[in-house]
Amino acid sequence: MNKEKEPKPNNISMQGLRVQPYIHPNGTLQQLPQIIIIGVRKGGTRALIEMLSLHSAVAAAQNEVHFFDWESHFQRGLPWYLSQMPYSFPEQLTVEKTPAYFTSSKVPKRIHRMNPDIKLLLILRDPTERVLSDYTQVFYNRLQKHKHYQPIESLLVKDGEINLGYKALNRSLYYRHMQNWLQFFPLESIHVVDGDELIRDPLPEMKKVERFLKLEPQINTSNFYFNKTKGFYCLRDHGRERCLHDSKGRAHPHVAPAVLHKLHLFFHEPNKKFFELVGRTFNWK
Ligand code: A3P
Repeated sequence: MNKEKEPKPNNISMQGLRVQPYIHPNGTLQQLPQIIIIGVRKGGTRALIEMLSLHSAVAAAQNEVHFFDWESHFQRGLPWYLSQMPYSFPEQLTVEKTPAYFTSSKVPKRIHRMNPDIKLLLILRDPTERVLSDYTQVFYNRLQKHKHYQPIESLLVKDGEINLGYKALNRSLYYRHMQNWLQFFPLESIHVVDGDELIRDPLPEMKKVERFLKLEPQINTSNFYFNKTKGFYCLRDHGRERCLHDSKGRAHPHVAPAVLHKLHLFFHEPNKKFFELVGRTFNWK
């Protein structure tokens, strides 16, 4: 990218932050994130940040901040970004999640400029499942607004071929987006969480996340229980039990088997490329 054209965040360097942070009387302050969950949309990003928040050394931003991908936010500069962060104790790590970062080509460079040593978490699931989940989310949003929605098959297939113009398909071409990130960050800075495994059995995935972040092992089996009604694991934190919002874990539409087969075939090569990039495989169809 042309350096001249890249808008700069306000004039503070994150390593040598010059503005004096406001320290609350209880000793907490706002810190720039040392960890960012960059995506992928519908990968299980909410589950991941909620599960990570179970750790006492982690403070999580409640909302998706969209600092690096939305121009109107980015122009406000790093002081604004900092103001979006939760109050935390100095020894705690701050994490924010904005799933759209993964698929936005300008974001890796911007994050790198803020902090080249930042730790990135990327949660992925079977790309076909992710497309169906993406469709389901848009379907419900449109339903709420009384807007027209198309059947999924008509979005997935055009003139008998997979419709490359469907945005949700592009978001599932993980290798393309990963290539952008690897231009700025070494693979060791990006931990890929297996989103399908996080659904099936969250603890082992969260233990790997703890290790990657060099956190003291703390998350344990008592933090999770399976809720049969929801059909997913829910969280237990200091005796308080809670499941994710109803919008997480929705039923997906039925897709004609022939279309599903086409989709699996379509993702075969891109998946292989992704496995080569990250040096590991995933159990995707
Ligand atoms: P579905 O609603 O399609 O099943 P995101 O938070 O990135 O939008 O991802 C949403 C997905 O998180 C859900 O997609 C669901 O499958 C997955 N998920 C993972 N663990 C979950 C949990 N414990 N409870 C609910 N959803 C979970």
